Amino acid sequence: MKGIILAGGAGTRLYPLTIVTSKQLLPVYNKPMIYYPLSTLMLARIKEILIISTPEDTPRIKSLLGDGSAFGISLEYAVQEKPEGLAQAFTIGRDFIGDDSCAMILGDNIFYGNGLGAKLAAAKRSAEEGKATIFGYYVEDPHRFGIMEIERVKTDNDSNFRVISVEEKPKEPKSNYAIVGLYFYPKGVSDKADKVKPSARGELEITTLNDMYLKENILNAQLLGRGYTWMDAGTVDSLRKATNFVCMIEQYQGMSISAPEEIAYRYEWIDREKLSESVKRYGKSPYGEHLKAVLEDRIII
Ligand code: TTP
Repeated sequence: MKGIILAGGAGTRLYPLTIVTSKQLLPVYNKPMIYYPLSTLMLARIKEILIISTPEDTPRIKSLLGDGSAFGISLEYAVQEKPEGLAQAFTIGRDFIGDDSCAMILGDNIFYGNGLGAKLAAAKRSAEEGKATIFGYYVEDPHRFGIMEIERVKTDNDSNFRVISVEEKPKEPKSNYAIVGLYFYPKGVSDKADKVKPSARGELEITTLNDMYLKENILNAQLLGRGYTWMDAGTVDSLRKATNFVCMIEQYQGMSISAPEEIAYRYEWIDREKLSESVKRYGKSPYGEHLKAVLEDRIII
C-alpha cells in the first residue's frame, strides 16, 4: 500500500503565520507539524509515501525530510499548483500509486491513542481487499466538517458501522461524527478521483469521492472513540490546542510522541547506526534527547 501526505493549501486562517511558510512546517510543541501525519502513516506500516505541497513549500519540506532514509522509508514529492481540493491528491499521485491501494492523510491532522497502529493496519488490510475506510470522530460543531451518517452493525466486535450517507459541511448535520483527514482506498482510486466534478465552492471534494465508494457499497467506517485524540491544527486556536495537548502528554509521560525515527527503529526499518545519525542531527534539543534515550535503551516501548 502507498501513502500520501497532502500538505499544501493556502493556510489563510493562520495568517500572518503562514505568509512565508507552510502550515505543515509550523511547530506543534517541539516538532514540525508534518512529523505527526508522517508518524501516523508509518504506524499503518506504510513505507512508500508521496508528499504533495505547494510550489514554494515542497522544496522546504524536502530539505527537512529528505528521501526518507532516516526513517527507513521512501519519500517522494509532488507539487499541487493550486489548492483545488483533497481529491486531487489521487490524480497528482496517479503514477506514484500505480496499481496499488493508497491511504491519504492531511498534513495538518494529528492522531494519538493507544492501539492506533492496529486500527490503521485493519484499514490497510481492508483496502488491500477492495474496501475503502473512513474514520469518524465526535465533534460538537458538525456543520464545519464532512459528516458521516452511520448505523451500528452487530458483529462479534462491535466497532463496525455501516455508512448511510456522507455530506460535506452540511447545514443540517445528520450526526456529530466528523470524517477525519485520513482515508484508505483500494486500488483504482486515481480513476475514481478523475470522475469527481468540482463542487459549488470550486473544490474537488473528498466527500464526493467517498460517496462513490458508498454507492458501490464498499465504504467502511471506523469510529475513534474516547481513547483517541484527533485534531486538525489549521486555525490559530486549534494549533494552540494541539501544542498544549502534545506538551501535556509528553510532560506527563516524560517522553516524545510521534517521532518518526523512533517508529522506524521499533519496526526495525532502521538500525542503531541510522538512529544515531539522527541523534547527532537533532543534538541537544528535547527531541534529540528523546531519540538518544531510545538509542540507549532507556525507553523500550
Ligand atoms: P484546509 O485547512 O481546508 O485548507 P488550507 O490549508 O488551505 O487552509 P485555510 O482554509 O486556512 O486557507 O486544508 C486541510 C489540509 O489539506 C491542509 O493540510 C492543507 C491541505 N490541502 C491541500 O494540500 N490541498 C488542497 O487543495 C486543500 C483544499 C487542502
